[in-house]
Amino acid sequence: MYKKLMIRSMLSVLVIFTMMGTPAQAGEHGATAPKKAGILLVAFGSSEASAQISFDNLDQAVRQAYPEVPVRWAFTSHIIRAKLADQGKTLDSPAMALARMQDEKFTHVAVQSAHTIAGEEYHELVRIIGGFKAMGAFEKIVMGDPLMTTQADMQLVVKAILENLPQARRRGEAVVFMGHGTHHPANAGYAALMYQLQLKDPNLFVGTVEGYPDVDLIREQMTDRKIKRAYLMPFMSVAGDHAKNDMAGSEEDSWASIFTRAGIQCVPILKGTAEYEGFVKIWVAHAGEALKALQ
Ligand code: CO
Repeated sequence: MYKKLMIRSMLSVLVIFTMMGTPAQAGEHGATAPKKAGILLVAFGSSEASAQISFDNLDQAVRQAYPEVPVRWAFTSHIIRAKLADQGKTLDSPAMALARMQDEKFTHVAVQSAHTIAGEEYHELVRIIGGFKAMGAFEKIVMGDPLMTTQADMQLVVKAILENLPQARRRGEAVVFMGHGTHHPANAGYAALMYQLQLKDPNLFVGTVEGYPDVDLIREQMTDRKIKRAYLMPFMSVAGDHAKNDMAGSEEDSWASIFTRAGIQCVPILKGTAEYEGFVKIWVAHAGEALKALQ
């Protein structure tokens, strides 16, 4: 009886070890696998062709900054992945990309979120990475912050915005940034950003599609300040569906239509933040911090 129990428990320990056995820990036939570090860039994804400029730009900047580290991509949106798969373009989910990296014998992975705030999608990513950690899939896996996470990031974002305001803008004209917005508490960052921007330039506004501040609040503020002309810019990494339709579209509930009805002439600029060096630099620096944390 005792012997049977012993064998059974030894067997289960063996099973657990086999399950946990990774190249980094056990190697093949006990040899330690060589260190192989990689970066996984993760974005929401977009079915708009215009968004590719942003992804390519970020990809290039990260590869240039860390030329010795291979870069992989994953996209969090299931709907976008399914839509692109129908067009014959297969994209990995974060879990699929990490499984591939494990298979490619990466031992150290820096996952860099290309999101704007640490909201819903970012935290979903944290949970997925937690799963890979629990499996012991890599010797080390760490995450880089989204664009605007700390107060230091916020200040860099303010700087990037101020440096990239439309050159044609005249005195008294507004610039409205459209953030995505979320029910997640991280949504507070958008109002915080607007506050800090307005300390520098009172005619800069930050609204969101799905959170606070909403479009009506921005319209009221612009009306109060007697603004007659506003540039509209996405505060999202890509100029995708939200920028094209919700911001610049001709439907009556688009921001351009709502502001135009309030007597404000609109000039939409369809460029995502990842098309500007000032923003890309922040993501690249975050990837660098994540790589550092891998060592
Ligand atoms: Co959306």
